[in-house]
Amino acid sequence: MVLKAELHAHLEGTASPDLVKRLAQRNSMNLPDGLFDAEGNYRWATFLEFLKAYDLASAVIKTPLDYRDVTYEYLKQCASEGAIYVEVMSSPDHAAMAGMGYQDHLDGIISGIEDAEKDFGIIGRIIVTCVRHLGPEQAVNVARQTVAAPHPYVVGFGMGGDENAHHPSDFSKAFHIAHDAGLSCNVHAGEMAGPESIIAALDHLPVQRIGHCVRAIEDPYLISRLIDEDITLEVCPGSNIALGVYPDFRTHPFLKLRDAGCKVTLSSDDPPFFHTTIGNEYAIASREFNLSDQELSEITKCSIENAFADQATIDKLLARL
Ligand code: ADE
Ligand code: ZN
Repeated sequence: MVLKAELHAHLEGTASPDLVKRLAQRNSMNLPDGLFDAEGNYRWATFLEFLKAYDLASAVIKTPLDYRDVTYEYLKQCASEGAIYVEVMSSPDHAAMAGMGYQDHLDGIISGIEDAEKDFGIIGRIIVTCVRHLGPEQAVNVARQTVAAPHPYVVGFGMGGDENAHHPSDFSKAFHIAHDAGLSCNVHAGEMAGPESIIAALDHLPVQRIGHCVRAIEDPYLISRLIDEDITLEVCPGSNIALGVYPDFRTHPFLKLRDAGCKVTLSSDDPPFFHTTIGNEYAIASREFNLSDQELSEITKCSIENAFADQATIDKLLARL
């Protein structure tokens, strides 16, 4: 089996409908009508509806044990598909909406990572992520909480949410708080907006990686800049098709980005929402983009080389390839 690595998965968005139902029951909560369709899958049609469904599903993750279980089950599933390293993006804002403090949410995730490494040998790390449409002040709060509670597993700071809300410069303060404290940074850009959104992110935020970034393909100057600045692209093809960024894999720019010289990696984003897994993303790359096992292994190597983990962990992982 080709060994895999995942750099872009939203932790709350990894919880399957089945797990969300189990957590709701454990917490004596009713799930809102309309969260699932007749087949039991998450129901949403547009990107903004997806974000709402994500919020509703996250509301059942209410205790440190819940966060531990979400993390553990996700890492278990990734390990079963050949993943040796996963960075999960956690959202303290979603934890707070469910009534949990920063440290409790972090403690739960850490124990999930520890237990999964013990049981399956998979290494997990955390990127604490703010939510763009909640605004710059909330992002600063999240950055301050993150740097006030350092932990060796917390290796990054990032931002997801509605790419069309606010401007990257509004988040410069939050990102610099995190970056100055030694955290590596990523940001979603070039998913729900065009190349100008990526350029603004590069101009204003201290990022090494960009989530999605697929719409960079529309601007050759931007492609050169991504190469010059050594930016890694966290490409999530299944997510892009599910959300309608491209109509099909034939028109997806993965190969064009790679062949232009960009550092491309493969990730699953919010697997059960988009009917995917990290294993499925590699299968898509094999089937739809004709990548050989050797090329898939090179993608994994690129992911690990550009992981936010410390160099000793990266070296240990590279030795396994
Ligand atoms: N949060 C969870 N998934 C996301 C995505 N694909 N884009 C932006 N924010 C997100
Ligand atoms: Zn994402």
